[in-house]
Amino acid sequence: MTAEPDDPPPYFRAHVFVCCNRGPDGHRRGSCAARGSERLRDYMKARAKELGLEGVRVNMAGCLDRCEFGPTVVIYPEGVWYNARTTEDIDDILDAHLRRGGRARRLMLTERDVVPKA
Ligand code: FES
Repeated sequence: MTAEPDDPPPYFRAHVFVCCNRGPDGHRRGSCAARGSERLRDYMKARAKELGLEGVRVNMAGCLDRCEFGPTVVIYPEGVWYNARTTEDIDDILDAHLRRGGRARRLMLTERDVVPKA
């Protein structure tokens, strides 16, 4: 999908979604909140502000349907997915992707990271 010429400009330079879904205890897929994503989202939001990253919005999201690979983070408009487990991982994403415009390659999910069939 591409933008139409008369679309308004993007409202945010980067829109970051951090899955904060909490599934039932013992669910076979697990959930991002059970792996600590709420704390990571709070940290990411605060650090993005401290770093003065213009046009970056960090939002909590419901289930992004890649639970097995969580905590999951996806950044638009690029549509790049990350698995972030620690605050150091969040720091890498903030620096590599959102500050320098590159990628935190060691944390990226790829097309090979697919959800197993039930
Ligand atoms: S619980 Fe986070 S992707 Fe499903």
